[in-house]
Amino acid sequence: MKIHSAEFVISNTDPAKCPKPDRPEYAFIGRSNVGKSSLINRLVQKNDLAKTSGKPGKTQLINHFSINANTKLEKPWYLVDLPGFGFAKVPKTIREQFASIISGYLTTRTNIQCIFVLIDMRIPPQQIDLDFMTRLGEQELPFAMIFTKTEKLKSGGRQMALDAYRLAMSEIFDTFPLYFITSAVSGEGRDDVLNYIDELNQA
Ligand code: GTP
Ligand code: MG
Repeated sequence: MKIHSAEFVISNTDPAKCPKPDRPEYAFIGRSNVGKSSLINRLVQKNDLAKTSGKPGKTQLINHFSINANTKLEKPWYLVDLPGFGFAKVPKTIREQFASIISGYLTTRTNIQCIFVLIDMRIPPQQIDLDFMTRLGEQELPFAMIFTKTEKLKSGGRQMALDAYRLAMSEIFDTFPLYFITSAVSGEGRDDVLNYIDELNQA
């Protein structure tokens, strides 16, 4: 799928004020600083569409972006950037606020086709990510894993990280979820993620 247009629509903390759920929607969720906003910018090839920062806690609202609304060549869809969860350096009250925004969003939006759970591939499996995916599984919400910052790892490091996740998740899931290896720096995985979204858009 080609990205013909990508525009910011609205930001808020109230899922009731999000755009009408009349198109397929894809959410990018994960720990603060994992690279959600950076990957979104890379996917749509616009450096400043989603605000990024080296400091965790940058994205504080539910941000809707309208993709391919200005072309007849592709179906339009929504891409959503969300606040991060669980970063210890983000104050507890803010973490609680973000968690409530995320759960409000997930339980309200009826048009979500896939929740992309972003995970920094350079660090060992974190309980908070495992818990988050467990809850998605329990709620029967569709999700896929996106490993980020992978340009920092060689193939051996990637394999070790995958093995660690396979082991950690074998206790929770019967089958390992769909996953993507990405880097906002190198652009690796961009086509894979966009092709998957396209597949779901056509379904
Ligand atoms: P919050 O909005 O705070 O939850 O963070 P976020 O998940 O949106 O992360 P963001 O995209 O703002 O990036 C956080 C930091 O990680 C920034 O310093 C980015 O430059 C860096 N980063 C993001 N993606 C990559 C990547 O693929 N490789 C590397 N090496 N750094 C990355
Ligand atoms: Mg962000």
